[in-house]
Amino acid sequence: MLVLGLETSCDETGVALYDSERGLLADALFSQIDLHRIYGGVVPELASRDHVKRLLPLIRQVLGEAGVAVAEIDGIAYTAGPGLVGALLVGASCAQALALAWDVPALGVHHMEGHLLAPMLEETPPQFPFVALLVSGGHTQLVRVDGIGRYQLLGESLDDAAGEAFDKTAKMIGLGYPGGPEIARLAERGTPGRFVFPRPMTDRPGLDFSFSGLKTFTLNTWQQCQAAGDDSEQTRCDIALAFQQAVVETLTIKCRRALKQTGLNSLVIAGGVSANRALRQALEAMLGELKGSVFYARPAFCTDNGAMIAYAGCRRLLAGQHDGPEIGVRARWPMESLPSCEPQAASCK
Ligand SMILES: Nc1ncnc2c1ncn2[C@@H]1O[C@H](COP(=O)(O)OP(=O)(O)OP(=O)(O)O)[C@@H](O)[C@H]1O
Ligand SMILES: [Mg+2]
Repeated sequence: MLVLGLETSCDETGVALYDSERGLLADALFSQIDLHRIYGGVVPELASRDHVKRLLPLIRQVLGEAGVAVAEIDGIAYTAGPGLVGALLVGASCAQALALAWDVPALGVHHMEGHLLAPMLEETPPQFPFVALLVSGGHTQLVRVDGIGRYQLLGESLDDAAGEAFDKTAKMIGLGYPGGPEIARLAERGTPGRFVFPRPMTDRPGLDFSFSGLKTFTLNTWQQCQAAGDDSEQTRCDIALAFQQAVVETLTIKCRRALKQTGLNSLVIAGGVSANRALRQALEAMLGELKGSVFYARPAFCTDNGAMIAYAGCRRLLAGQHDGPEIGVRARWPMESLPSCEPQAASCK
């Protein structure tokens, strides 16, 4: 089955073609980061307008790159939520219109299911069951995954998502947007041990997270340094390192706890923050001790992309699932409410 995937939930227009027999045939992305940078964050109306501009040219581009004719496409998958409603509506309307014109089914995909399944596109995909740590701009969740659509939420952030904490902290110390890669870049030059920040909610039981206090702690530290006349680049690097270490260790402690609680030794990390090298190293070391494995996508498929939506859509379309003709998107959408997905015919690679 050949599926066209469209991602427009936030500030990236992603398009890809995934084939259940041949794998990923082509993918293309247009990032709006430059458009939103001067505002220090995503402006929803600008995001929607830009998706309108980029989507059809990107679809033509992937069809051309894959050498695929429209008549070969068996289904269209698009991100139906969670995300910015205006941005989601661009992808949903386009997908439904093309599905009608090409006489193929369309299916709205859950954005976080897309992230969660992205490591399946890699050479060594994870096998069910596993624990997934979803760490993105809008989510920090620990989920037990027994199959596609068989999700049990184990814990989540009570306030800021990990990616959001990276972005806000970067802004506070005068770094650019998005903040995660900027903090990671500066942290490489940080002095270990100069600052030690708290590991929030690790001293009490449970699998929930909270990052807003850590953000305030970082701001206070930066303001104290500034008041003492020290706003040097080295101090920024030292703060970036202390912040990153606190987030990484907090996530690692909670992952270890989730693996112990579920009795599993396979961990998937997904979402933009899973591109963080320090996080990957810390989790690999922890899973090494537990004689288990950690799985993640290539960096380009950690942040938003069309490939993950094409893949997730293909798995569900193969199982016979598809939308009606209505255009419906959701700003919020609990992942546990998704139906499970048992393939009817052929399975994907
Ligand atoms: N190397 C990195 N280290 C830390 N954070 C990173 C890194 N690369 C990207 N990020 C963060 O990842 C986030 C973007 O990820 P993603 O595209 O998955 O989020 P989103 O789509 O905005 O949110 P959601 O998927 O929850 O709707 C940003 O917050 C960004 O700062
Ligand atoms: Mg995302």
